[in-house]
Amino acid sequence: MVTIDSAITGGDREIVANVLQAALVDLVDVSLQAKQAHWNVTGPTFRSLHLQLDEVVTLAREHADVVAERAAALGISPDGRVKTLADSVQTPQLDSGYLQAELVAESIAALLLMVVYRFRDYVEQTDEADPVTQDLLIAATQGLEQQHWMFQAMTVES
Ligand SMILES: [Fe+2]
Repeated sequence: MVTIDSAITGGDREIVANVLQAALVDLVDVSLQAKQAHWNVTGPTFRSLHLQLDEVVTLAREHADVVAERAAALGISPDGRVKTLADSVQTPQLDSGYLQAELVAESIAALLLMVVYRFRDYVEQTDEADPVTQDLLIAATQGLEQQHWMFQAMTVES
């Protein structure tokens, strides 16, 4: 079996391994759900939502790569296989079929907020275990919170 040496060992390693794997699942989930919505959104605000959703896809994919490579660099093999993701995903999934724009904005805002809460917990968990990993998670949280704001703002009645 291949192993990679790391300065993070023992209980800290276990915390960081669990957090990074959970964060990877969350980010791939967000990227896939945002892409599903990007393809299926309908309604008068189609274009703005269609484009905004791809910003979420890009954000989630970029942070997923950072999180997975952080794990790998610490000797923790990241598991991004679709079966693993399907077995461990924690969020409600979008319905199949075309989706009405307002419902998309509400669903994606709710998804992002749920993931923001999870990431804030990951940030706390890694505070002492590994501040370098915590730094990456803080950056991801900032991006997720920014996108959450934009989607929630779309759902406000004028
Ligand atoms: Fe596209």
